Amino acid sequence: MTDLLLSTDAIETYLDATRDARLESYKAFLRIPSVSGIPAHAGDCRAAAEWLADAMRTAGLEHAEVSETSGHPVVYADWLHAEGAPTVIVYSHYDVQPVDPLDLWTSPPFEPVVVGNRMLARGAADDKGQVHLHVMAAAAVLATRGAFPVNLKYVFEGEEESSSVHLDGWLEANRDRLAADVAIISDSGFFDGNLPAITIGLRGMMYSQIDVVGTDVDLHSGQFGGAVQNPVNALAQIIAVLKGPDGRIRVPGFYDDVQTLTDADRADLAALPFDEDVYRTELGLPALVGEAGFTTLERRGARPTLDVNGIWGGFQGEGAKTIIPAHAHAKVSCRLVSAQDPARIFESFKAYVADVAPPGVTVTVQDLGGGFPSLTPTDHPATQAAARALEATFGRPPLYIREGGSIPVTASFETILGLPVVLLGFTPPDDHAHAPNESMDMDNYETGIRTVIRTWDELVAANAEPVRNW
Ligand code: BES
Ligand code: MN
Ligand code: MN
Repeated sequence: MTDLLLSTDAIETYLDATRDARLESYKAFLRIPSVSGIPAHAGDCRAAAEWLADAMRTAGLEHAEVSETSGHPVVYADWLHAEGAPTVIVYSHYDVQPVDPLDLWTSPPFEPVVVGNRMLARGAADDKGQVHLHVMAAAAVLATRGAFPVNLKYVFEGEEESSSVHLDGWLEANRDRLAADVAIISDSGFFDGNLPAITIGLRGMMYSQIDVVGTDVDLHSGQFGGAVQNPVNALAQIIAVLKGPDGRIRVPGFYDDVQTLTDADRADLAALPFDEDVYRTELGLPALVGEAGFTTLERRGARPTLDVNGIWGGFQGEGAKTIIPAHAHAKVSCRLVSAQDPARIFESFKAYVADVAPPGVTVTVQDLGGGFPSLTPTDHPATQAAARALEATFGRPPLYIREGGSIPVTASFETILGLPVVLLGFTPPDDHAHAPNESMDMDNYETGIRTVIRTWDELVAANAEPVRNW
């Protein structure tokens, strides 16, 4: 214990002395527009990967490599000299979401600035801030102690915001070098503000596009209207029957693999510090709406959803133009829970759309990717180690939360690599991930570095029993 405290002091001294350099490095990383979903940014994704591999080498990590996938590369590095100690995979992603609507940003998204106590830039929170704090934690440990108490393998992905389509293949191809005891994923958040949390549930995802096609070109609606199907009307008819007035999704079989929430699950969610009125008022909404028979927190974290993300077709300019549009489109996604399988849900969805599509148009449904849901036990020794580290550094024990968002790799670590997963993240909803003016609370970033360092010590403490039981 004395050793640990002494070296913690040395780490604090180091972190104090390097604060400005750390901030500059964080900004440099944020300046690279690594938007994975936009093909024109492929070069920027690679540049971010190269930058990161360099930063990891500089931190003292070994075998740093920009490793190819069929899409944007994975950045890998390791440190494997803690003989007999557990091996941890650390995962975060260096790609970011698109920035539109650009005019709502108070400063350009790839010109990071600190405003108040927040780093403002696309990716500041989701997820470059978390990638960066891990690298800075590693640099601090190696500069002061010269060694980690555990073995570490870092996997920083470049396609998480595009459904991680090529990551499973990479995990399979690298199965041997990824042998480990546990995976720590830093891509989730706190419940609120600086209130630490460990995420135990993530929803899965099915993402699709519906294309409704009529004629080759738009038609005069006077000459043809009344005689042909209108693709935009047809699409609206399809969308209107995807859900019932009770908020239930009407796709046959959709709920087959959804487990009923237990009384204990419901009690855990009800015990979280959540004020529905404050939530509604902050959103500026007249009412909250969702599936009948469930609370807001249940609807948001533990029940599946179906949402139209975007819809287009026909004339959208100023004034009036009289046409029967040639085609119409919608992006529709479902958040999945329990044992729902994204591929099966896609097939059921596609069949239902074909079933309810009105005549006179060609309707197709494309699969735009997805991921499985996941649920991690709270009593795993690694989860408990992370909980102790959060309590020691943030001054209060973490809440255990179910998040509505999705991280496809979570289930892949479990199924492909057979690893337990701990979701240790530092970004609350008020960081505005995916939205204009995304930012990271600098206290969460700085304290997060200490939490990560402490987690490695706590993992060893958890593993001190003569026989490792995990
Ligand atoms: N970091 C988020 C996931 C997340 C959000 C976890 C909120 C916990 C709380 C991740 O980067 C993300 O945005 N994932 C996408 C996945 C999709 C593209 C398959 C999502 O949830 O929309
Ligand atoms: Mn993320
Ligand atoms: Mn995201």
